[in-house]
Amino acid sequence: MDYKLLVSKAIEAKSNALPTYSNFFVGAALLTKDNKIYTGCNVESSSYSLTMCAERIAIFKAISEGERKFKAIAVTHDKDDFISPCGACRQVISDLCGDIDVVLVNSKNEIKVMKTSELLPFAFSDKDLK
Ligand code: THU
Repeated sequence: MDYKLLVSKAIEAKSNALPTYSNFFVGAALLTKDNKIYTGCNVESSSYSLTMCAERIAIFKAISEGERKFKAIAVTHDKDDFISPCGACRQVISDLCGDIDVVLVNSKNEIKVMKTSELLPFAFSDKDLK
């Protein structure tokens, strides 16, 4: 699967980031099963812990619009290295999106595709609550 469009949407979303305190810009783009794209960027608060990551904003936007099935999420930032979603986002991706492709994008526009299950093996899930 070619993730060119998804990656370009994530890069576009990154320009809306509001990283007032970290100055770390992140953009995310989530691809639904029927090929719609929802984007997100990180938004920071002066009460630091209230900050929200780009991935979770994209996911919550999509879920709140009624979307339930997803294929991939692209995440981009301005570093040369590949950086992957934080632990909280991994849990939310696992819970709400399932074992999808997580498309990591570095500042050189290189991509590395990983599965949710590789990023969060032995995940806690709704099954554990039964
Ligand atoms: N951030 C994300 O948006 N996604 C991640 O997966 C890692 C961290 C944001 C949160 C905060 O605004 C900034 O990056 C620095 O942690």
